[in-house]
Parts: sequence; C-alpha cells; structure tokens
Amino acid sequence: LDNGLALTPAMGWLHWERFMCNTDCNAEPDNCISENLYMQMADAMAKDGWKEAGYEYVCIDDCWPSASRDAQGRLQADPKRFPGGMKKLADYVHSRGLKLGIYADVGTKTCAGYPGSFGYYDLDAKTFADWGVDLLKFDGCNMPKWTLLAEGYINMSKALNNTGRSIFYSCEWPLYEWQYTQPNYTAIRQYCNHWRNYADVYDAWTSVTGILDWTAEHQDLIVPAAGPGGWNDPDMLVLGNFGLSLDQQMTQMALWAIMAAPLLMSNDLRNIDPKSKALLQNRDVIAINQDPLGKQGRRTAKVNNFEVWERPLSGGKLAVAIINRQEIGGPRFFPITLAMLPSWKFCNPECNVTQILPSYQEMGIQKLLSTTNVQVNPTGTALLVVTPSTLDPRLHEKW
Ligand code: GLA
Repeated sequence: LDNGLALTPAMGWLHWERFMCNTDCNAEPDNCISENLYMQMADAMAKDGWKEAGYEYVCIDDCWPSASRDAQGRLQADPKRFPGGMKKLADYVHSRGLKLGIYADVGTKTCAGYPGSFGYYDLDAKTFADWGVDLLKFDGCNMPKWTLLAEGYINMSKALNNTGRSIFYSCEWPLYEWQYTQPNYTAIRQYCNHWRNYADVYDAWTSVTGILDWTAEHQDLIVPAAGPGGWNDPDMLVLGNFGLSLDQQMTQMALWAIMAAPLLMSNDLRNIDPKSKALLQNRDVIAINQDPLGKQGRRTAKVNNFEVWERPLSGGKLAVAIINRQEIGGPRFFPITLAMLPSWKFCNPECNVTQILPSYQEMGIQKLLSTTNVQVNPTGTALLVVTPSTLDPRLHEKW
C-alpha cells in the first residue's frame, strides 16, 4: 500500500498470543485487556531499550470494545477496562514516543464475538483517526459472504485513507480467502501494509515450523509480493514466553529476519528473560529484518534435515540462515561449500563471512571452492551475513 508507511516491516508489540481475550480484571488486574496493560507495555518499551532497538507500535488486539456501539453508532472501548477512553490511551502512548495500534474486523463480529465493522467502515475509520490511532489490524471473521471479503478490505483501506490521518493497515485478507480460493496478491499489496497468510502463531516449536513450512511451500507466490510498502506477515514473535527453547527462539528471530516479517512481539515486557530480550534487541538481526533493499528471502536448499534460507541485502550482501530441523541428537556440523548454495555463487572470487547467531563471530574470508563448517543445535539456527568481494548484478534477480 502506497501510503508512505511500512517502508520496512513494522516493529512493535501486540497483545494477542500472550494475553488473548482475558477480560477478567477483578481476578487478574495485571494481565487483563485494559488500558493499564498497554500503558505498562508502553512504559517498558520506552525505558528498557525497545524503542532504541526500533520497536515502535503498541498494539491492541481483540476484546477491547464494549458489547454495543454508542448512540451515534460508534465503537466504544469497554468503560470498565478503559475508563480513560481510547483517545487518552493514544495520548499516553504518544507521550512515550510510541504509536498505538487497534484491532477491528471486516465482518459482523470480531473473532471473539465483539462488534464488527461490517456496514461501518467509514465511521470506524473516522473514530480511530479521531482517537489518534496509528495502526489498524483488520481481522476477517464472520463475513456474511466470503465473496465480500476483498471488497470489505478494500473499502476499509479507502476509508482509512479518507480520514487524512496516516494509519498503518494490517490485513488478514489472504488468510481468510485461502479457505475458498488463491488470493490475488497484487490486489492485496495495493491495499494493505501487512497481510497474514497462515494460521495464528502459538507458543510452540510446531507452530513456528508450521509457519516456516507453509511459507516455503508458497514462496513462489508470496515472496514477489513483498517489498517496501507491503509485507507478508507470518504472525507474532513469541520469544520470551514459555514454549520455545533458546535455540528455537533464535530460529524464530533469524527466520523472521530472512522473511522480512513484521517484528510484533507478543510477550510480557514487564518481566522478560534477559536472553530473550537480548535476542529480540539484537541489532545485527534487526538490521537484516529492516534491510532497505526490501526483498524477502526464501528457502533455497533442504539437505540432511538442514534447511538453508537466503535473503539478498542492500550493498550486495546476503543473509543466510541454516536451520537444523533434526529433533534428536546433539549439535551437528553443516559443511558450507561456497559453490553449493544459490547465494554463494556471488562469492566471486571470495566472501567475507560473519556469523550473527548463535553468537557473533568473524569467520573471515571464504573462497568460492573452500568448505567451512557451522555448528547448529537441534531446532536451532546459524545466521550468517555474507559480503561478496565484488558486487554481482545477478543478486537482484530471482534465484
Ligand atoms: C484471529 C486472528 C488472531 C487474533 C484473534 C482474535 O484468530 O488471526 O491474530 O486477532 O482472531 O480473536
């Protein structure tokens, strides 16, 4: 979507995976969907290095509204859980130098059963703009007819544009359309800044691998759609929660960088493991994710239960991720023969190689025909940045 936003994938925090639809503020005042939650996350984002690392959006997901619209037909925040109202919350988040995201649904009800925007696109867009909202996540549940999905997403895109406020538009259009037909990614890119393609992430390795497998299987279709202004969204980062080992967290972080994915964390920033925090704030990984060339990477090889994913970067560089998909045994060596992998033909006559994950390490000059080993733990990933000695125009082609 050509609205001046999403020149690189968005970075921030989104409540859903970690806090879901917890509305019981009597029993769990600190973990329920309330203005306090977003104010506290905004505080943490501003003071604990997140903002400096690039994380910017504090995003509300489902379950924020009151069960009914107001007398003018406008959506309203649940008055018990958001006593200050949304405008005040937006002001608060802005005062911390951050941006506020909100959630709505293209159909008659949200996925959790709150009022949907069907029939109210213009009014809801205007309401969000009046509140000072900076991003809309637009879900796709409860559409009366699936053939109306595309039209609904397009109309909301236009409605947001008509408000005159700059609002980032995050869609779930293809995810819902896939149930019936192959989505038109040219149209989706024209109207959305992000788009979800596949199932909701959850806090487990099988969820991460399911997303990676789906992405690789559909890469010829979806990778060309990504670029400055619009990105494929493989869903939230779940690092810092309960289900992923440290190696698996490295895999999610590395591959979300290769996939040019939005970095929207869903975790508790008020209390997060320092190792997860360091990974989420790793400047070298973030630089790959946010690379200005804006090309999404793809899976380029599968060998011996290793997967290789590669992403072209600006300045003629490449990012290479090697995932050890074997879930038994110990660390294994992956022999990198420079001539073997698609990207490594650019190492002509040689490349300078730096390992970013699992730890920073200069691997020095590697020649086209030499072999070097990287060691990868089970379900872990080695992430490398490869800098060819000469710039090769083939880098910008599809390979
Ligand atoms: C859908 C979306 C999720 C989340 C929930 C909220 O499942 O895909 O990301 O927004 O709805 O109900």
